[in-house]
Amino acid sequence: MTIDKDRVLIFDTTLRDGEQSPGATMSHDEKLEIAALLDEMGVDIIEAGFPIASEGDFAAVSEIAKLAKSATICGLARANYKDIDRCWEAVKHAVSPRIHTFIGTSPQHRAIPNLTMDEMADRIHETVTHARNLCDNVQWSPMDATRTEWDYLARVVEIAIKAGATTINIPDTVGYTAPVESADLIRRLIAEVPGADDVIFATHCHNDLGMATANALGAVAGGARQIECTINGLGERAGNTALEEVVMALKVRHDIMPWHTNIDTRKIMHISRRVSTVSGFAVQPNKAIVGKNAFAHESGIHQDGMLKSADTFEIMRPEDVGLAGTSLPLGKHSGRAALRAKLKDLGFDMVDNQLNDLFVRFKALADRKKEVFDDDLIALVTDAAAAGTEDHLELKFLRVICGTEAPQSADITLRVGDKDHQATAQGDGPVDAAFNAVKALYPNEAALQLYQVSAVTEGMDAQATVTVRIEEDGRIATGQSADTDTVVASVKAYVNALNRLIVRREKLGEGSDKREVSYKDVN
Ligand code: KIV
Ligand code: ZN
Repeated sequence: MTIDKDRVLIFDTTLRDGEQSPGATMSHDEKLEIAALLDEMGVDIIEAGFPIASEGDFAAVSEIAKLAKSATICGLARANYKDIDRCWEAVKHAVSPRIHTFIGTSPQHRAIPNLTMDEMADRIHETVTHARNLCDNVQWSPMDATRTEWDYLARVVEIAIKAGATTINIPDTVGYTAPVESADLIRRLIAEVPGADDVIFATHCHNDLGMATANALGAVAGGARQIECTINGLGERAGNTALEEVVMALKVRHDIMPWHTNIDTRKIMHISRRVSTVSGFAVQPNKAIVGKNAFAHESGIHQDGMLKSADTFEIMRPEDVGLAGTSLPLGKHSGRAALRAKLKDLGFDMVDNQLNDLFVRFKALADRKKEVFDDDLIALVTDAAAAGTEDHLELKFLRVICGTEAPQSADITLRVGDKDHQATAQGDGPVDAAFNAVKALYPNEAALQLYQVSAVTEGMDAQATVTVRIEEDGRIATGQSADTDTVVASVKAYVNALNRLIVRREKLGEGSDKREVSYKDVN
């Protein structure tokens, strides 16, 4: 195999490791959209899902495999033939398919399938051989590698290489390693395991100690040439290595990390926003690269420096990650052409009827707000995308009574199906009262898992973006909405989450998007 020693492959697992974090569930169409954006931005390998986990996962991986233009499409499989066969069935449609199979090799993980070390070694040989007989691109991972005894790790990596694995991924499953150790481990594996020169070593780091990006770059310094990561660092617990962080670190500090990726960094901001919206996981304002404040210069001394020369306080340009250089706000006199141009700058190419709909919403917002900033527009687009025309529920009217004197109450008119219904309810505050009124009109057992409000822009007239996550019988649905009225945004977000739950129940059939398998089961 010819391996470009200066190139680092980017393996994105937003749709598998990221999407499996509680609450980040994406719909089928959203997964296709994110996969297309990843493909377009130059991601080398997209891990599109875990095909055996549910009918929904299988359908998404198959469809992504059929649609991908240049990325390799990979699916995850545990160390058994059934998983591997199902994975192959899903990825085989891709121009470039990959099977990724794994087993937990650390003492903590070996205890679960109840296999001896020898039995596990045999299992690895059999399953990697089986995968390789189906597909000539096979990735193998010893889960929890960084807590696996060195001798055993070296032994099983050698077995996997001999059985035909083409990529060996070394996961730091629990975010336990540190940058120097991460580099040393990869370096030692490459130096000491027979056959290591013929495969690509990958790094897959979790962020439990906040070191995932540093550990991934450490592994690259040690010889890894594939980084596994997610957009916005999405993922279980503290998340994964963030794609935007490793890619920009390699770009900005090329002097000391002389490796390159194929990523078009100008697409970063757009995909970050889309992933945040569809997963319902807001990006923290001070997050590196994609946070709202990453390129904001508030203090007087910083602003003064920036005016003299941008590089006083900026090590990269906002344009490098797809942020428009200047952010001149639109107002109520701005026309359709200005709106279209601004949206294009922000990465949204609108067809005419979408633009017409958005223009109406923009005018309504501009009537309420003096200046409409980029972030207001992004919230508007998100809001328009969230409200589907076929939705079962729609908020038609809301009036709340709130203040220092209880009880707080809400009057609501909700379209349910094709009829409008009206209800009044009380609650512990206006949001609770309004949610109770929705429940009175559309009774449901969905439990509220998350209710989050964030201001889109500065100022008293800022729009609030509200995210609501609900759970019913193992199914999770997230809704989002933005409005200058926080209670209106809250109810719309709740109704949006209910609509998604309804679609999930109806479209996919009972249980079909529920994941019944656990990573820990091998058989
Ligand atoms: O964190 C991990 O170990 C994983 C494996 C399935 C590769 O996600
Ligand atoms: Zn992981």
